[in-house]
Amino acid sequence: MPSYAVIGASRGIGLEYVRQLASRSDTVVFAVVRNPAGSTHLNAAATGLKNVHIFPGDVVDYDSLERAAKQVSEVTGGKLDYLIHNAANVDVNTAYKGFDDYANMEELDTAFISAYKVNSLGPIHAITAFLPLLRASDTKKIVVIGSGACDPSSSRALRLPNIVAYAMTKAAALLATTKFAFKLQDEGFVVITLCPGMVDCSATAGADSAALADKLNEFSATVKKNTGLEVTRQTPEESVTAQLKVIDGLQASHNGLFLKHTGGEYFPRRSEA
Ligand SMILES: NC(=O)c1ccc[n+]([C@@H]2O[C@H](COP(=O)([O-])OP(=O)(O)OC[C@H]3O[C@@H](n4cnc5c(N)ncnc54)[C@H](OP(=O)(O)O)[C@@H]3O)[C@@H](O)[C@H]2O)c1
Repeated sequence: MPSYAVIGASRGIGLEYVRQLASRSDTVVFAVVRNPAGSTHLNAAATGLKNVHIFPGDVVDYDSLERAAKQVSEVTGGKLDYLIHNAANVDVNTAYKGFDDYANMEELDTAFISAYKVNSLGPIHAITAFLPLLRASDTKKIVVIGSGACDPSSSRALRLPNIVAYAMTKAAALLATTKFAFKLQDEGFVVITLCPGMVDCSATAGADSAALADKLNEFSATVKKNTGLEVTRQTPEESVTAQLKVIDGLQASHNGLFLKHTGGEYFPRRSEA
């Protein structure tokens, strides 16, 4: 029975991963969330499902992830096949800020350090905490959900000066994931970063739903104005269906790559030395 841990599964893309993986009758899914009682969408989706386990874990608190790994281990007998690290700070009130949107440099520093802890150190904490379980499986797949926002060529093409802390800290996560890929390659691991594309998660954003929908409209309008391009916004269901096709098809040759939800490489530079 394949086992999956989804880190940051309360809402949005992580929640949809839990939904789709749980619908596969032969899987067991571990939803790791920082506030199980407050994860209303997840609790509703998991009601009556025997193959979904919800465990507490905050990616900035390494000990909490070690405790979550221990709880997973007790269910699986010490193994985990797939780690899907989804958690990130995509808060509509902070993630879209530009350098001038902070009151002063102290506020900027605080916001960047907070984003770094969640978005950059979070995947390192999760991979490290679950590594003993992943090593005990023959599958050995680690997927960190990345973002095109970390790609300088996207910023250039879209002429986007904002989304600074989020983009910079997701760039650090991409490098961390790449380093893990080569640290673990000789053990048979496949470690990738996977970009979900543009996904409208406003339906599960609670009190931020309307603000997030407005922000996505504003972002699409900016892209259209700067480039003439229409932004294709997917539902979480569409994106995760595509992402799972990529994950289901992972091969050793994918180790270390940054892939798109459509399956191709985000940076088509593998052949450049
Ligand atoms: N949506 C897009 O268009 C898009 C595009 C590119 C990449 N991505 C990436 O896709 C992933 C999911 O994004 P999303 O749009 O689904 O965001 P979202 O709806 O805001 O969900 C973020 C998830 O991360 C969790 N999280 C935040 N901080 C955490 C922490 N310290 N510990 C544990 N969990 C934490 C949240 O839990 P709480 O409920 O506790 O806050 C929530 O479950 C992120 O990695 C993001 O960078 C999204």
